[in-house]
Amino acid sequence: MTPLRARLEEAVASIRARVGHDAGGEVGLVLGSGLGAVADAAEAAAVLAYREIRHFPVPAAEGHQGRLVLGRWEGRRVAVLQGRVHLYEGYTAEQVAFPVRVLGALGAHTLVVTNAAGGLAPDLRAGDLMLIGDHINMMGTNPLVGPNDAGLGPRFPDMSSAYDADLRVTAMEAARAEQLGLREGVYAGVLGPAYETPAEAAMLRRCGADAVGMSTVPEVIAARHAGLRVLGISVITNAVAAGPAAVTQDDVLAVANDAGPRLLRLLRRVVRAL
Ligand code: HPA
Repeated sequence: MTPLRARLEEAVASIRARVGHDAGGEVGLVLGSGLGAVADAAEAAAVLAYREIRHFPVPAAEGHQGRLVLGRWEGRRVAVLQGRVHLYEGYTAEQVAFPVRVLGALGAHTLVVTNAAGGLAPDLRAGDLMLIGDHINMMGTNPLVGPNDAGLGPRFPDMSSAYDADLRVTAMEAARAEQLGLREGVYAGVLGPAYETPAEAAMLRRCGADAVGMSTVPEVIAARHAGLRVLGISVITNAVAAGPAAVTQDDVLAVANDAGPRLLRLLRRVVRAL
């Protein structure tokens, strides 16, 4: 396979060929399941389907549209990934993280990642927003596995403060100003696609996780490797801690859609304050 750096350059070139040389944004956003509304709020200068971008993985999951929206939001130049691919679709961790690397190569210095997650902490209810303070990689893989290109980042990147402390303060202040509940917690990333058994959920809780989901961890690792500051927000779509209850993707998407407007208000303030 072509080395990562060459694939990145080709992806960037294919975007610039469509949009022009100043394509890109200072702030990158990744919108998870049912959370695409943020992309509609931005003043889009250009919209590209993922299949139009060289080497971009194309999502199969429902609720994930697969569009890159370049434009302005709250006075900032933004690059929005509307939809993501997951490990459970069969992509490698490097492929899953590739679009985030492209945002970095296009000039983003800050990455805002969102996702839908199951709540493990007893105080988390369906519909709550959780600020990701840290993560646990339970996916059994890592986007940096393989040869390291020192020009892209260090072989052994530090992860002691993956979720930027200043951005977390900004997010908490934004939540307060919007009178939105927001509590910080630990996100456990798992492979999926099966939801957790009760024993698995209990194990993850004992390991220190407040929420569990099937995304985000590869993107955040790659973003830190590339030197981007990261802010992460989970929408709690189901309360696993409430006891064994069947989870369906329809429920998850319905709750995520319902939380979309609140997430939009939060992110609007965060982006304005960056
Ligand atoms: N587990 C894993 N991923 C999820 C969940 C869950 O309960 N809810 C939304 N994404």
